[in-house]
Order: sequence, then C-alpha cells, then structure tokens
Amino acid sequence: MLCNFKDIINKKVLEKQDLITMLNAEGDDKVLLFKKSREITDSAIGNKVHLRGLIEYSNVCVKDCLYCGIRKSNRKQERYTLLDDEVTQCAQYALDNNYGSIVIQAGERTDAVFIAKITGLLKEIHKISKGALGITLSLGEQSPDTYKAWFDAGAHRYLLRIESSTKQLYNTIHPNNALHDFDNRMASLHNIRKAGFQLGTGVMIGLPHQSMENLADDLLFFQALDVDMVGMGPYIEHSDTPLFEAGHLLKTKQERLNLAFKMIATLRILMKDINIAAATALQAIDPMGREKAIKYGANILMPNITTGNFRNNYKLYDGKPCTDENPADCNACIDVRMGMIGSSVGYHEWGDSKHFKKKQTKNNIVWEP
Ligand code: 5AD
Ligand code: FES
Repeated sequence: MLCNFKDIINKKVLEKQDLITMLNAEGDDKVLLFKKSREITDSAIGNKVHLRGLIEYSNVCVKDCLYCGIRKSNRKQERYTLLDDEVTQCAQYALDNNYGSIVIQAGERTDAVFIAKITGLLKEIHKISKGALGITLSLGEQSPDTYKAWFDAGAHRYLLRIESSTKQLYNTIHPNNALHDFDNRMASLHNIRKAGFQLGTGVMIGLPHQSMENLADDLLFFQALDVDMVGMGPYIEHSDTPLFEAGHLLKTKQERLNLAFKMIATLRILMKDINIAAATALQAIDPMGREKAIKYGANILMPNITTGNFRNNYKLYDGKPCTDENPADCNACIDVRMGMIGSSVGYHEWGDSKHFKKKQTKNNIVWEP
C-alpha cells in the first residue's frame, strides 16, 4: 500500500526507502518533516541547547584528506599549535562564561609528544575547573591505549566523523593509503567506545558523487552503531584542495544546506534522544544556519572560543565564519540568537547525551565523571 508523507514520518520503524523519501521532501512535506522533528526534540530533549566551547588546538596534521584545508600537503597554510597557557586561558574563558563543556579539536597527530601533551592538558583543565568542565575530544584516529589514556585523564566524549559510511565514497575523498583506511576508521570508532567515551560521529553532506541512498545509509549507520552524538554539516569546497579541483559538485551550496537541514530533522526522528550538533559549516553558507538547524532538531552549539590570533588559520573550508572576531563577540549574541528561535541555553550543565545515560541505566552502570 502506498503511504502518504505523514504516515511515513509517523512510522515506528523507518526503512531505507522511508529515509530517502524524507530526505527528498520539499514544500508541504518538508514543513511536516521539520514540525515532526521539532516535536520529538521538545518531548525527548526539551528546548535547551547546550554549549561546547570549541578550542582549535592546532592545525598541524599528518593526514591528507582530499577535501580539507589543513591537509598536510597544503603548503599555503601557515601552521600553529597553541601554547599550554593559551589552552588553559580558553578553558578559563569557558568557565568564566558559564559554559558546561569544551571541545578540543586539532589536526591529526599520533606521535608520543602530542599524546603526552594532550594528556597533560586534560589533567590541567580538570584541575583548574575542579572537574566542572565536560571535555569532548576531536583528535582523530588513535591507538586503543591513547584513547584509554585520554579518557583516564578526564575527557569523556569523543567525536570522530566517519565522513561517509559508504566505503567506496570514502575512498574517493581520501588518498588511497594506510593512513586513510576506511576499516581503520571504523575500528577506531569501536575503540573509542571501548575506552569508555560517549561516542560521536558524523558525515559531510553534498559531497561530489554522493547520492540520497548514500545519505540514507549514513543515517542507518548511526543507528546501527547506536551512537550517542552526531555532528554533520554541508561539504564546503576549499580552493587549495584536490577535491575542489576535481569538481563534480552535484549541488549548489544552498542545496547542500537544505539537505543538511533535512538530514538533521530525519536523524532526530530516527534517533530521538541523541545529541545532534549544529555544525559551524552551516553558518558558513547561511548566517542563521546554526539557528535553523536547532529549530529543525539539533541541540548542541559549539561556539569557537579559540583565542583570536589563531582562528584564521583553522580553515577547513572556504568562508569559515567568525574567524576575525574575538570569542566575546560570538558569546554576546548566543542568548539573543537562541531566544529568537524559542530555545534557551543550559549554562553550567554538561548536557550529556540522554541516549548514553539511558543505556547506562539499562546496564546498571553508575556514571561518575
Ligand atoms: N567542508 C565541510 N566540512 C569539512 N571538514 C573538513 N573539511 C571540510 C570541508 N571542506 C569537516 C570534516 C572533519 C571535521 C573536523 O570538519 O567532517 O571531520
Ligand atoms: Fe587532517 Fe583529514 S586532513 S585529518
């Protein structure tokens, strides 16, 4: 029997074809999709948005992803690594501004000096915040021992985007070598979880050669992996990368943005109580991109709190927003921006994934950060 759109979004079990129909929704159907995902967000999560102050620790990277502006082979990119004091100043900024959590993000490095440096910084941040700041890491593929060491040093969430869950597509956007191996990335996701972290992943939306089917598979992948958090945003070309030169863009920036919103809304309907971040890349296309994403189902905002001098150099893609401003410029408008869309900010709260908490209760695990 043919179902109408309303029946589809209300189905108990969503199948791949349903997800594709949802991702293709336009006009009245799209309005229904966004309305449904808002209702689910309100009942499963509430209207509170939680902040993660984003510290872009370093743009030094040993990898060469074909889409990324800070890839190793981009010689035009000046490199930086924050000093320890600068990192703790950022953490202090987060504390002073009542943020519940921070994210430490950097290009990928797996050398012993880097690993020890991060471990030390985690301990220091834990000390100055007296354990009050939740810490998420986004530092790429590491060994199981490294994940464990960083978890033991005080981080408790980890983001590692799979970029695309379709191996064939993943291989078209990465060099074909051991450092960029799809299966290793998958294994890392499992190792992150095993170390004890709340697990986050995500994909880029609107990649060259990416189909609606690929995106529906990404959503089913998040569900199968039972992730606690997702961060996903539109692919935005960077002019100094091989993927930009290769062309083959199927969609305009606006179309990629529109699709990203529909991915967020569809994911919220599929996985009701996970944390979904409103990615910065949304704002690079539309100044209100992150606010719209929150309206359509996201519940996490990651304002950049990296000290002003360096944020110009963390350019993953062209047109990255807010790079010339100081963190305070962004902070001043967060409450107003959230108020405009009927949301409030959960200051002082970690805002952990409700999905993760539920799983723990089910397994009788008591969480003590
Ligand atoms: N466009 C959009 N997102 C990008 N990222 C890297 N390069 C780009 C780009 N050109 C995203 C990747 C990575 C995250 C840190 O930033 O998904 O995992
Ligand atoms: Fe640095 Fe992809 S280019 S991890």
